[in-house]
Amino acid sequence: MNEKKHLLSSSYQFNRVQKIIQNRTVLAAMTNKQSYDNGIISQEEIDWLTERAKGGFGIITTAATNVSIESKAWEGEFGVYDDMHIPNLKKLTKSIHQTESLIFAQLFHGGIRCPQTITGITPLSASMLECKESTTGFCKEASNKDIHKIIDDFTSAAIRCVDSGFDGIELHGAHGYLISQFLGSKTNLRTDAWGGSLQNRAKLLIKICNSIKAKVPESFIIGVRISPEIDSLGIDLYDTIKLVGILNNIGLDFIHISCWDAFASSKQYSNDNRTLTQIITDSYSNLPTIISTGNVWSSQDANNVLNQGADLVGVGRVGIAHPNWGKNIADINYNPTPPPYTSDYLKHVKLSDKFIDYMRNWNGFVTDSK
Ligand SMILES: Cc1cc2nc3c(=O)[nH]c(=O)nc-3n(C[C@H](O)[C@H](O)[C@H](O)COP(=O)(O)O)c2cc1C
Repeated sequence: MNEKKHLLSSSYQFNRVQKIIQNRTVLAAMTNKQSYDNGIISQEEIDWLTERAKGGFGIITTAATNVSIESKAWEGEFGVYDDMHIPNLKKLTKSIHQTESLIFAQLFHGGIRCPQTITGITPLSASMLECKESTTGFCKEASNKDIHKIIDDFTSAAIRCVDSGFDGIELHGAHGYLISQFLGSKTNLRTDAWGGSLQNRAKLLIKICNSIKAKVPESFIIGVRISPEIDSLGIDLYDTIKLVGILNNIGLDFIHISCWDAFASSKQYSNDNRTLTQIITDSYSNLPTIISTGNVWSSQDANNVLNQGADLVGVGRVGIAHPNWGKNIADINYNPTPPPYTSDYLKHVKLSDKFIDYMRNWNGFVTDSK
């Protein structure tokens, strides 16, 4: 895979759709709290993403965006659950398309992690589990009717993304939110068709993918973000490998592996020294586009991830601090300044006060000393 080393800043074409990306860099989804509680995206959120598109990222992914009122896990997050959201979303996609970047929306449902104080209803999940976001101390097990509504909500949201001018969507199947609560054997205790075997636990995700695929144009890019292993949910790396095979058969355009640390090996299988990306990409000879993300800062890091078998490299924090990362990465010696960053500096790179405050939750990212 050494030939990929030179490829970071060269263009890339998806297998199924005719869309070309200017390079192999992806700004990963990042919640930033800058939008309105009625779900309308704010100018601040448009500006911060546009600045990164001007900075040369191949793909810009939005923050996790709500597919329904009851899917909300945070305040200040925009949504795609109502046609009233479309005008400002069009402003976003138009602004991004003045650059060379593609723009994807990350479709999201928080499940058990949706506070009742925000949504006004008891959170739901695959099973009735203890839940600190619920006034009763427990979430509700989704009924068949609830599940079909969730599939419809994701589908309607994807259609609104098409209408708003997005190039594609990423389904948020990672990090312990609703889709991963269905995938996990410890969070999905159902005995019906939506639980039990991996195939059944993946059924919600499969149905969402198929429903969206049937309703959007062929040229619209559809992918899923997954976490390879989360012990507390019962998400197991070997199940994840099988899941990748299942998703491959659906004909998705990309799978985004969220590693948190792309250079670490499996926590669950300590006798295997390969990284999570390597284990997954080594398992199949024919995969859709693979994005891998986690703790990438320098050109060397990014090239390392391509050499692990990923086609595209995602970044989070370094893209917040260094808007031009997508362009600068062409320099093989690029090694951007690490955190902490002052709030003045973060304002300068187009973060609003709200976003800067949110970043104070990320250990060591913001400093108040000059
Ligand atoms: C402020 C912030 C918000 C995030 N919000 C999301 C999100 O909405 N959806 C998601 O899938 N991941 C989210 N993540 C995770 C990132 O997409 C990324 O996977 C993670 O930060 C690891 O990459 P990094 O080491 O390059 O930062 C967030 C990360 C940060 C720092």
